[in-house]
Amino acid sequence: MKAIVFDRYGSARELQYREIEKPTATANELLVRVRASSVNPVDWKTRQGHLQLLSGFNFPKIVGSDISGVVIEVGREVTKFQPGDEIYTFLNPAAGGACAEYAAVPESAAAIKPQNITHVQAATVPIAGLTALQSLRDLGEIKSGSKVLINGASGGVGTFAVQIAKAMNAEITAVCSARNADLVNSLGADIVLDYAQIDFTKQTEKYDIILDAVSTKTFAECENVLRSEGVYISTLPKLDDFLPLLTSWLLPGKKAKLILANSNSSDLGTLRDLIEAGKVQPIIDRTYNLAEVSAAHEYSETGRAVGKIAIEIDS
Ligand SMILES: NC(=O)c1ccc[n+]([C@@H]2O[C@H](COP(=O)([O-])OP(=O)(O)OC[C@H]3O[C@@H](n4cnc5c(N)ncnc54)[C@H](OP(=O)(O)O)[C@@H]3O)[C@@H](O)[C@H]2O)c1
Repeated sequence: MKAIVFDRYGSARELQYREIEKPTATANELLVRVRASSVNPVDWKTRQGHLQLLSGFNFPKIVGSDISGVVIEVGREVTKFQPGDEIYTFLNPAAGGACAEYAAVPESAAAIKPQNITHVQAATVPIAGLTALQSLRDLGEIKSGSKVLINGASGGVGTFAVQIAKAMNAEITAVCSARNADLVNSLGADIVLDYAQIDFTKQTEKYDIILDAVSTKTFAECENVLRSEGVYISTLPKLDDFLPLLTSWLLPGKKAKLILANSNSSDLGTLRDLIEAGKVQPIIDRTYNLAEVSAAHEYSETGRAVGKIAIEIDS
């Protein structure tokens, strides 16, 4: 099968489009004909070697985590899926495997894709959408009327977070650059702050939840703009947040939390319901084909993508 692989850690130039052996499904896995994937920053961080402790030194490695595709075979213990099902999910980012014509997917991580969107659209949902959902619902315990600030509202995680918070009837302040203000407003933000003009940590407004999707702040910087039981949620581990993360487990009051997105059928089902109800839609900046993944990574590495970067593998 054709895949995008790398033989050593390094720049996007290490990515090669070549023929490799097709995977097989174990007892609890689905063999999927991959129709589309998308780029998440973790994909190029893995390629650069930042996750070496987890990703190890077995090469070649296939890049990519997000998948939307069609089940073509099921392992003997699989009960919930059958050949022909259209599924979406994300693979363990440290292991990769998505940017290929076929992938083996654990049954427990997969869900039927939303029916009202294409594979290209569906493949942009898993990592970014689950990060937004699990941050707001599980770590933030969002409720109707919660006052939520989303920093990095125009990115992959941010565009899903604004829409999910809106679907949960939260009051949303979105932080992004001026060029993305109209988009973020159209997704449901009540107030939009341009980070080049206003530092939200220096305002008088206070929030129940701060989702720092781009992790440009720390808990210490955000503490003053959290309500008394407010939660700061970061998408990246930072040395400055280490102590607050520990003490948040023990002490009442304002909390610092770190999201680690988890792929599971139930939460992908929740996202599917939101998408099919028209409450959430993927925002796609650019679409590349499989042979162009290297260019797609380079674009993601600029940090300027608006919404998601899709990879079309087979139309
Ligand atoms: N822990 C987890 O489970 C998990 C899961 C998913 C993602 N992540 C991490 O979360 C981060 C965000 O992921 P993503 O997919 O959303 O990234 P992304 O799509 O690449 O983010 C790009 C967006 O960030 C905005 N941005 C850049 N600098 C900003 C700033 N100073 N303030 C506000 N917005 C800014 C950009 O808007 P402008 O161009 O307008 O500045 C752009 O729209 C990454 O570091 C990723 O690795 C972690």
